[in-house]
Amino acid sequence: MELEANHRQADPCWLRYAPVDHPERLAQYRKWCKELVTPANPSPLLASAIFELHQGIESMLHMKPQCVAVPAEAYSLCLGVKGQSALIDEALAPLADASEDSYVIRTISQDGRKHLLMAGVSERGALCSAFHLLRLMQMGESMEVINMQESPDNGLRMINQWDKLDGSIERGYAGGSIFYKNNEIPSHLTRVHEYARLLASTGINAIAINNVNVHERESWLIKLPMLSQVARIADIFRNYGITVFLSVNFASPIVVGHLPTADPLDEDVIAWWKQTAAEIYEVVPDFGGFLVKADSESRPGPFTYGRNHVDGANMLAEALKPYGGLVIWRCFVYNCFQDWRDRTTDRAKAAYDHFKPLDGQFEDNVILQIKNGPIDFQVQEPVSPLFGTMPATNQMLELQITQEYTGQARHVCYLVPQWKEILAFDTYAQGEGSEVAKIVSGSLYGRKLGGVAAVSNIGDDRNWTGHILAQANLYGYGRLVWNCNLSAEQIAREWIALTFGSGSTQRTEVILNLLMTSWLTYEQYTAPLGVGWMVNPHHHYGPNVDGYEYSRWGTYHFADRDGIGVDRTVKSGTGYTAQYREPNASRYESLETCPDELLLFFHHIPYTHRQHSGKTVIQHIYDTRFAGAEQAQQFLDAWLTLEGQMDEEAFENGRSRLLEQAEHAREWRDQINTYFYRKSGIPDEQGRTIY
Ligand code: GCU
Repeated sequence: MELEANHRQADPCWLRYAPVDHPERLAQYRKWCKELVTPANPSPLLASAIFELHQGIESMLHMKPQCVAVPAEAYSLCLGVKGQSALIDEALAPLADASEDSYVIRTISQDGRKHLLMAGVSERGALCSAFHLLRLMQMGESMEVINMQESPDNGLRMINQWDKLDGSIERGYAGGSIFYKNNEIPSHLTRVHEYARLLASTGINAIAINNVNVHERESWLIKLPMLSQVARIADIFRNYGITVFLSVNFASPIVVGHLPTADPLDEDVIAWWKQTAAEIYEVVPDFGGFLVKADSESRPGPFTYGRNHVDGANMLAEALKPYGGLVIWRCFVYNCFQDWRDRTTDRAKAAYDHFKPLDGQFEDNVILQIKNGPIDFQVQEPVSPLFGTMPATNQMLELQITQEYTGQARHVCYLVPQWKEILAFDTYAQGEGSEVAKIVSGSLYGRKLGGVAAVSNIGDDRNWTGHILAQANLYGYGRLVWNCNLSAEQIAREWIALTFGSGSTQRTEVILNLLMTSWLTYEQYTAPLGVGWMVNPHHHYGPNVDGYEYSRWGTYHFADRDGIGVDRTVKSGTGYTAQYREPNASRYESLETCPDELLLFFHHIPYTHRQHSGKTVIQHIYDTRFAGAEQAQQFLDAWLTLEGQMDEEAFENGRSRLLEQAEHAREWRDQINTYFYRKSGIPDEQGRTIY
């Protein structure tokens, strides 16, 4: 059944280009779209933009635009790139200092003719402008007077695939890999092509195509003959303005090169990487660079040789530098075997402790990729204190679109509101107004390189993301990292309109409400108040209150009959709060000012402690678990009212997953409440049954 589904055509997601049924709009769009003015011999990238415009217009308007080099009609669309004509250069003049992915969309009059100009500073910019116009049309916007310019907030807008050569995906919840099958790159890469279109339409410009945990098989991707297969993937993405990166195994010189060592200061190792880089660029001339997970969770790294991250990253950076390649070095480095019983050892402190002292020592083509929080993509955790503390080092943010800890595409959890909070977090690195968004974009410290990466949530399921509503996370990620000022609601509304159409207000409002409340709801029935985990070990799905996989030293959350939470204060705990700048450090240190939602992340407190809300911690836990489970049931009820308002497959997908969520949320509620009732012996004030 599942296999059959995969063979059917993939869901077009937000590129479905439904026919325009509003008569006036249809007439207007048809007037403008008769003619498409493009350069005579377009490059492959511009050809993609032309293809997209053709395809979109044909599907929405049932007409084919005429492709011409010189306009003949009274109204025309006109696509171009800087330097192509005086008209385009004039339109692009306001973007003189803007990044090369910038573009304008503008209606102009010339010689008695009207043009709707889509012009990019680069070809990628032009492609983005084409997708933007198609989006406006899908949303029913008028084409008569448009005057907009767009510049991305982030230089690198990246996707990390955690796909493995055997065709499975680490933390993948939507089928198998579209990149690999049975240890090979398949001969047909139709889904990769479709994926490139989806990503490019949201503004993504980089992708690492294999898992950060690079085992023996994947280590060979950097060498021929595997490399020539990688080149096929790179060709597809290149045509959509997306640069391909590979995750590499730090021990490749041993695994692939048969050298006795991978010591980054060893002459032979250095030469091996240089030679390897030269070979890669022969085959993939615009190769983006390496993504590296080193010295973490048993992956090899420079520590083995008594070297540090600077030695490791810079050695690779020097190999890639002649070709303009980058090293993206992950800061998810911690010792999973550490013994925390002394209550000062703390996994949350690891990234800062490892990397902060190394500021200023990395090559300028190295970017440190920092997970949003100090732990691991939990439903609620503070922002990593490493952001902004390394002014002389390129930094980028790592998010997770795949919902490893947030319901694994079986529960709905729209993550854009969470990402907005992260980007808006003020680090005070340069005084007030030093938000994470400004650090990773590079603007705070005037750094050229930076951006955001996120772990993808797609697989070969027909609908890409397992849960139809999880498509909103992939779409939302691209849109948000292009423009961090878009609101979560704005993005959700766009996604709903593009996916389901904007015809029905009731449908829009039901789905919008579901998406916008889903993160809070998920938090309400799962681990409370920032304490994290409480999921089944390794699998990370389903309740398991003491389930932390590295629990050999006892529960990490220190719950006993009197209280719960991890004391991370300087005064009496692990001292983690000191990694923040003021006023954040004091805000988290003091129970008086610590935000409720992070209370148990920072403090060990009695169950009877009263939060700012006035409720005791134990009562808060009970109330929110009941409310969350109730809300999950309401999600299902609301969805059922949409029957007949979308295609059957989408409806059924949502129905079955929301049903599972509602049932599972009750299980969460009962397990968490029972655990705390048994630990604390304090009954629910409202006398509800706790199983
Ligand atoms: C988490 C996740 C792993 C992943 C790791 C990483 O620990 O569970 O599957 O490899 O993060 O980000 O490297």
